Amino acid sequence: MTFPTNDRAVSVNLVQDKYAAPPPEIQTSDDTIVDINDAGYETDSSNSSISTSLSLSVVDYPFENGRRYHKFREGRYCFPNDELEQEREDRIHELMVYLFNRLHFAPVGVNPKNILDLVTGTGMWAIEIGNRYPNANVLGVDLSAIQPEWVPPNVRFMVDDVESEWAQPRNHFDYINSRNMVLAVRSWPRLFRQALRDLKPGAWMEMQEFDHLPQSQYGSIPLNHPVSKYWDLLGSGLSCLGVNSKVTVFLADMMRDAGFQNVSSRILRIPIGEWPEDDLLKMVGRYFKSILIDGIQSMALRPLTRGLMWSREEVEVWLVEERRAYKDDLFYSHMPLHIISGQKPSL
Ligand SMILES: C[S@@+](CC[C@H](N)C(=O)[O-])C[C@H]1O[C@@H](n2cnc3c(N)ncnc32)[C@H](O)[C@@H]1O
Repeated sequence: MTFPTNDRAVSVNLVQDKYAAPPPEIQTSDDTIVDINDAGYETDSSNSSISTSLSLSVVDYPFENGRRYHKFREGRYCFPNDELEQEREDRIHELMVYLFNRLHFAPVGVNPKNILDLVTGTGMWAIEIGNRYPNANVLGVDLSAIQPEWVPPNVRFMVDDVESEWAQPRNHFDYINSRNMVLAVRSWPRLFRQALRDLKPGAWMEMQEFDHLPQSQYGSIPLNHPVSKYWDLLGSGLSCLGVNSKVTVFLADMMRDAGFQNVSSRILRIPIGEWPEDDLLKMVGRYFKSILIDGIQSMALRPLTRGLMWSREEVEVWLVEERRAYKDDLFYSHMPLHIISGQKPSL
C-alpha cells in the first residue's frame, strides 16, 4: 500500500480528537561488537578467535516453528527476523513516519555529529535520519544483521546486544533514538544509565513505544474479548521469558529515576480499523489493523510456546479465532503510542 502525501502533519491533538461519534454501546557477555559494514563481520576485538567464530555465526539464523530468529545472543529476542517480519517492521516504520511527518520529536540540535539508533531492526529510521542529517554519523545497533548493505556513507550498523555494556565513548551522542523495543528489553534502568552516560551533556533520548493493549475510545474492551485475551496471554508468555510487556506507561518515570531531566511523554491513539471519520485516520486504521493481523502469529509463537509451553498446534488453532476477532471494528479501538523524551543534564 502506498500512502498519499500527508501535507498536514498529523499532530498529537488531531490524532486524539478526530474520532468518530461514540458507538451506541460498549460493554465495556561477551560484549563483542560486530560491524556489518566490515567484510566478514570482523570485530576490532583483540581476541581474534572469538571474533572469527562470531562472524561466522551471527547470520547462521536458527528456525523454530517455521520462523527464523536471530543467532547472536540466541533466544534474547522473542520475535522472528525473517523477511515476512522485516516487511511488517518496515510497514510500521512507514506508518509512523507518515502519520508524524517527521522522524523525531525531541531536538537533535542544529548540527548533530553522532546519532545512535538502538534496536535499529531493518535500519529504515537510521537510513532516513542519515539522509536528513548528512553531516551526522549514524550508528544503528541490533541483534540481527538484517539491514541493507547499501546505505548512506554516514550510516553504519553493528550487531550487538543493547543490554550489554556499550562500547561507545562516554559523552558521545547528540541524540539517542529507540522505537518499538518495549517487548525486547529486560533491564530498563541499566539501559537508561548507559544512555545517560553516553549522551553529551544537554543531549536528548527519545522513545516511541506502543502500550500493547488495544483500548477503546469509549470504554474498555471486555477482558474476555479475544483481542484482549491475545495481548494478555502474550504478556504472560513474555513475562515468563523475563520481559515486562506493560512497562510503556512507566518509562517516563524510569527515565527521571535514571537522572534524565525535562522528561515529557505524550500519548497518540493509533486507530485499529476503519472506524475513524477522518479520511487520513481511516486509512491509518486500516493499515495498522492489517499490520497487527499479519503479525498475529509472529508475535504469539515464541511467547506462547517457550513462555507458556503451548504446542505450535495449540497456538495455530487459537489464532484462527483471534484473526476472526480483529475483523470487526466493534470497539472503536486504538493502541496508545507513547512518545517519551528526556535530556541529559548540562554540566
Ligand atoms: C520491533 S523491532 C524494531 C526495529 C526498529 N527500532 C523500528 O522501529 O523499525 C525490534 C528489534 O529489536 C532488536 N532487538 C531486540 N532485543 C535487542 C537487544 N537486546 N539488542 C539489540 N537489538 C535487539 C530485534 O532484533 C529487532 O530487530
